[in-house]
Amino acid sequence: MKDPILSVENLAVSFTTWGTHTYALRGINFDLKEGEILGIVGESGCGKSVTAKSIMRLLPPHTGLIEHGQILYREQNLLNLPEPLMQAVRGKEIAMIFQDPLTSLNPTKRIGAQISESVFLHHPELRKSDIEAKVIELLRLVGIAHPEERLRAYPHTLSGGIRQRAMIALAMACDPKILLADEPTTALDVTTQAQILELLKHIAITQKTSIILITHDLSVVAGLCDRVLVMYAGKIVEEASVNELFYQPRHPYTQRLLHSIPRIDTPCGIPLIPIQGRPPTLQHRTQGCAFAPRCHKAMNICPLQEPFISDISPGHRVSCWQQIKDASNE
Ligand SMILES: Nc1ncnc2c1ncn2[C@@H]1O[C@H](COP(=O)(O)OP(=O)(O)OP(=O)(O)O)[C@@H](O)[C@H]1O
Ligand SMILES: [Mg+2]
Repeated sequence: MKDPILSVENLAVSFTTWGTHTYALRGINFDLKEGEILGIVGESGCGKSVTAKSIMRLLPPHTGLIEHGQILYREQNLLNLPEPLMQAVRGKEIAMIFQDPLTSLNPTKRIGAQISESVFLHHPELRKSDIEAKVIELLRLVGIAHPEERLRAYPHTLSGGIRQRAMIALAMACDPKILLADEPTTALDVTTQAQILELLKHIAITQKTSIILITHDLSVVAGLCDRVLVMYAGKIVEEASVNELFYQPRHPYTQRLLHSIPRIDTPCGIPLIPIQGRPPTLQHRTQGCAFAPRCHKAMNICPLQEPFISDISPGHRVSCWQQIKDASNE
């Protein structure tokens, strides 16, 4: 596999609102390799969006705090970059697409004008006609038919799927090396969802863009990603290639997640099993494994001490005392 293009090291993020602390990320480590599509999955509130916003340095300035950690991109720690230099990274090197395109696109501006603005910001040397040609090329890249006419449309006149395509065109305006896609298909119907996922795959292959795809939908991960990170309560509990995660999940949380979704190879009549209980509120620093209260395999040590991450096989890592115990017995 290729070298990492982005490395997140021991990243911890907390929020303080009205005197309440939320420990949203509690020391996460991962690499994004060149040209790969990396999935991040986990229940609502586990820290997926905070991970993406930390990479973009878009955390709320007064309430969000990076407690410690590094985000390395091209050998520099993005967290130490002065804001004007970070502005040059945003959009040009690393771009983000959001879940809801209607609130992310400016409703008062035509989509062509919004994409042109972004191209011009990073390439002020281009002539107006070159910028328009680039916008048409981008709309074509994302599969929007009749781009010469569509660039004059306002966001509210477009369907959800086309709006999401326009959002992706906007994100791709400066040929970023990394695309962070935060739940890009959640608001769309299944057919449009499949088309947008195909489009992301096409972009990864043709533009050689590395993609981080955030989703709570494991079927999206299965169809698109090379590797997957499973997050629980602000931590990465398992990391594996997509095949290994689906066929040999090792963390009880991942196993339970997979049992709670329908699979084509499950015999008829076998009911889906929901995960009992709720994730922790993240308002206290947890002592042991955060999943222990919901875990069917929990041992005495689990609620007392945080498990360390251990390697199961090359590229497959898991943070679970049961796995550490099994490995030491082998
Ligand atoms: N601006 C903020 N102020 C205070 N707390 C925040 C803020 N943003 C996120 N959080 C908290 O951080 C934790 C992680 O939030 P995050 O948005 O990353 O969850 P998520 O995994 O993306 O969930 P979802 O699947 O619902 O989008 C949550 O407990 C959330 O309440
Ligand atoms: Mg989110």
